[in-house]
Amino acid sequence: MNKPLRIALTKGRLEKDTVGLFEKIGYDCTAVREKGRKLILPITDGNMEAVLAKANDVITYVEHGVCDIGVVGKDTIMEMQGKYFELSDLGFGKCQFALATKKGDKFFGGYDVKKIASKYPNVARSFFESKGMDVEIVKIEGSVELAPLLELADGIVDIVETGTTLKENGLEVIEFIAPISARLIVNTVSMKLRQQEIEKLISQIEANI
Ligand code: PRP
Repeated sequence: MNKPLRIALTKGRLEKDTVGLFEKIGYDCTAVREKGRKLILPITDGNMEAVLAKANDVITYVEHGVCDIGVVGKDTIMEMQGKYFELSDLGFGKCQFALATKKGDKFFGGYDVKKIASKYPNVARSFFESKGMDVEIVKIEGSVELAPLLELADGIVDIVETGTTLKENGLEVIEFIAPISARLIVNTVSMKLRQQEIEKLISQIEANI
């Protein structure tokens, strides 16, 4: 038998949704469900091995070919780009990129250069470039909603899922930027060398989403 296909999963919700999907296909994911602190786990029957990583690292491992496949959010893909194939939309992990400000703030208009806080500076930059708008971008690592409340920024570019975090902090969406969901990415060399196995997996996934 071939060595197992290595699949990097974004730890947390995407990992759980992927395990749910694999179990629907019929793969035994007990080891991943009962992982404790282990980071590399077998997925029996599927001849796969799950590698649990942070979103940015999923892309790095797939790009470098140490994992054949990855499951990662479109948000990370848009922010990091890189050289790999993006093959399937897995239909879960759905949310949106949005520009938000304090409720009632007039964001557009005026001549002052606006300050934008974001965990996703590249996404923010290209959004404002597409509008021909000059902005200053400040990188924030988390709870970006704090930045306008603390008067660090005029607005934020962030992920909105239910909208609760914005609402509870007196912010509102000014404009939706792009839809986000989990994607299957594949290393370019693995796609050639292990094409049959990867295509089989993709067709099983697509039949079950
Ligand atoms: C994300 C995002 C928002 C929140 C949106 O943060 O950055 O803060 O979820 O979800 P909602 O619309 O359902 O309220 P996350 O929970 O990943 O934490 P972080 O801000 O520390 O990155």
